[in-house]
Amino acid sequence: MSLRLRATDLPARLPEQVRARIPIQRVPQPLQNRMTPSWRAAKPRRIAASLAFSQAQNSGGWYVAGRSGDVGPAESVARTIAGREVVFWRDADGSLVAGPGACPHLGALLDSCPVLEGTMYCRWHGLALTPRGDRTWSPYAAFDDGVLLWVRLATEGETFTDRPTLPARPPLDGSVTAVMVEPGTCQPEDVIANRLDPWHGAWFHPYAFSHLVVDDEASDESRLVVDVTFRLSRTFGVPVRAEFHCPDARTIVMRIIDGEGTASVVETHATPTGVDDRGRPITMVTEATIAYSDRPGFQVARWLSPVLRPGIIRTAKKLWVDDLAYAERRYELRMRGEYPG
Ligand code: FES
Ligand SMILES: [Fe+2]
Repeated sequence: MSLRLRATDLPARLPEQVRARIPIQRVPQPLQNRMTPSWRAAKPRRIAASLAFSQAQNSGGWYVAGRSGDVGPAESVARTIAGREVVFWRDADGSLVAGPGACPHLGALLDSCPVLEGTMYCRWHGLALTPRGDRTWSPYAAFDDGVLLWVRLATEGETFTDRPTLPARPPLDGSVTAVMVEPGTCQPEDVIANRLDPWHGAWFHPYAFSHLVVDDEASDESRLVVDVTFRLSRTFGVPVRAEFHCPDARTIVMRIIDGEGTASVVETHATPTGVDDRGRPITMVTEATIAYSDRPGFQVARWLSPVLRPGIIRTAKKLWVDDLAYAERRYELRMRGEYPG
């Protein structure tokens, strides 16, 4: 999010009316020996109950396949999703098309194939495939939500839905959006479980969070409500109230519900892709940050979004390097039968 702006030069004494417009507060970061350990509250059983609730949500067979911008009008893109090769391209009207990624003729991978007026031509011998499909090749349901691409695949234990369950988002044309993609050696549930443990935030990511308290009264298995300060520096931060919930089994959403950026969301989608050369599962984490503010200054930030975006992505990546390490460690312990809880 656009919350890691330089704030170290803020004058100590600003006029009251100016101060009221600036969300940044002087919240010195405590040293570890002054921080309350969170492990007593982060009960393995409580995290497991939230995870069980999330995993019971029907994902409808829908998987996030990447960013909306990944598939252009002129060429197909092939991806492996849930162990299946899937090809994506655009119909003449720009809508997303998806289908099996192997050509029905001799099995060429349908990647980087030319697309003309919505018809894709296989690179090996020119077989033409249209969004309608034919006897030998049936398209999958696909959806572009304006930020992310989705494909629907038959999945055990899931009942097809017409559309993915999209979390409420702030208006996209008033927001700064950044999408980060990162693979991890784990399963989707490990990614979700990491986020269902918000108690690790201030300890594991002190560069990003402090003063993190889970509001037990407002939280249950389906929802975790957290008061937290986003760090800008060791001295300044932005206190907000945020809520985590899982609209489907492979997605967890953090929404800011009070404070600067209310209505902003961070959507984390975990998509199983395939296995590595040792047979271990690979999960692609696609994180969409949609930062919104009704402050006048934010419009300036939105105009600057091509400049801000690399910074947003850098912060999200740093968090995710750590969070993927957590998810991978959880997976490793589960495989060894040593995971507590
Ligand atoms: S393999 Fe695709 S046309 Fe031959
Ligand atoms: Fe984390």
